[in-house]
Amino acid sequence: LNNGVARTPPMGWNSWNTFGCNINETLIRQVADAIVSSGMRDLGYKYVVVDDCWMNPTRDAQGNLQANPSRFPSGMKALGDYLHARGLLFGIYQAPLDRTCAQYFGSYPGATGAQGHEAQDARQFAAWGVDYLKYDWCSPSGTSDDQVRTFAIMRDALAATGRPIVYSINPNSIHAKTGPQRNWGDVANMWRTTEDITNAWDTGQTNGYPMGIQNIVNVTVPLAHYAGPGAFNDPDMMEVGRGGMNDTEMHSHFALWAMMASPLIAGNDVRSMSSITQAIMKNQNLIAINQDPLAVQATQVSFDGTRRVLAKRLSNGDVAVALFNQGGSTTTISTTAAAIGKTGSSFTLRDTWTNATASSTGTISASVPAHGTVVYRVSGGGVTNPPSTFRLRGESSGRC
Ligand code: DGJ
Repeated sequence: LNNGVARTPPMGWNSWNTFGCNINETLIRQVADAIVSSGMRDLGYKYVVVDDCWMNPTRDAQGNLQANPSRFPSGMKALGDYLHARGLLFGIYQAPLDRTCAQYFGSYPGATGAQGHEAQDARQFAAWGVDYLKYDWCSPSGTSDDQVRTFAIMRDALAATGRPIVYSINPNSIHAKTGPQRNWGDVANMWRTTEDITNAWDTGQTNGYPMGIQNIVNVTVPLAHYAGPGAFNDPDMMEVGRGGMNDTEMHSHFALWAMMASPLIAGNDVRSMSSITQAIMKNQNLIAINQDPLAVQATQVSFDGTRRVLAKRLSNGDVAVALFNQGGSTTTISTTAAAIGKTGSSFTLRDTWTNATASSTGTISASVPAHGTVVYRVSGGGVTNPPSTFRLRGESSGRC
């Protein structure tokens, strides 16, 4: 969406994965403080997103949304001010129809979706200082056309406020499971590609709830051609640091989100993070790959059902390459500089995890543990533009 924001994938934190409906202003402030003190803010994690269950179950007499007075007694404007005073940005949640998802599932009372109140809610959010809206389809019905029409109403309402607000949509809640897939880049800055993520490497799901990390990667990699500045596939808030994976899997999760130009929205309790969680989420090599201004998503170079190779072009002519082992035992994964779109015969490979560099005349290879991902930043030589492996859907020549 060409609304001036999210030219690179948004980074931040969201309350849902860890806290669900158990949120309040003290918690959000503590989280904000931890994002600052841990150094995450200065690495780019700026959006603090308050997900479902912040609302008062009814609107006021003028039809305005209100904060739940026992959870957010100071009000949402005060919360936004608190975040802004610390160099952070304010994200909030709403649903386009008559109720939010927690209301749909009966875990939170009331019916305060935006339907019929879109312009009013958008103005309210702007007045509170909101910088990011997560807008969550919470109905089992509605066609794809209904979704496009409905999501576009809030897109236009946000634009009419004049405040730059990242527009994050979820067409997949309840309604459509995973799909039908669509390029939502004309409607939103980011759009969920699957049903909800869960705190596990693999749930065996291909198209339903809940999705493990590997299941989401399988769905999101083929959507690479939709992504670009202002428009990103959203494979959901991260489960890094939530205890459901081993360290290798946690690193893979983050590395693959970085390669997929995915929004990097932490979903863990950042007030108490282990050193490995911090090392992963604060890896500056991977963050730089994710935040590269070219803002393209890695495309697939090869996949044999176990060994997947992804390549992401970077603005300075480097190419990031991920060697991802989806199998259950250590294996060697190899590709070449030519296959990832490099020209020339002399390259430097920087391992983004160890920071070690190695020279190469074209071979790119690593021994990768089960569920592991090795990401190299490949520099030297030139770059084909675009490399043949980066063809957009429907293109025949690889040139655009
Ligand atoms: C479904 C979404 O996928 C989640 O991320 C979260 O926003 C919940 N709805 C809230 O009810």
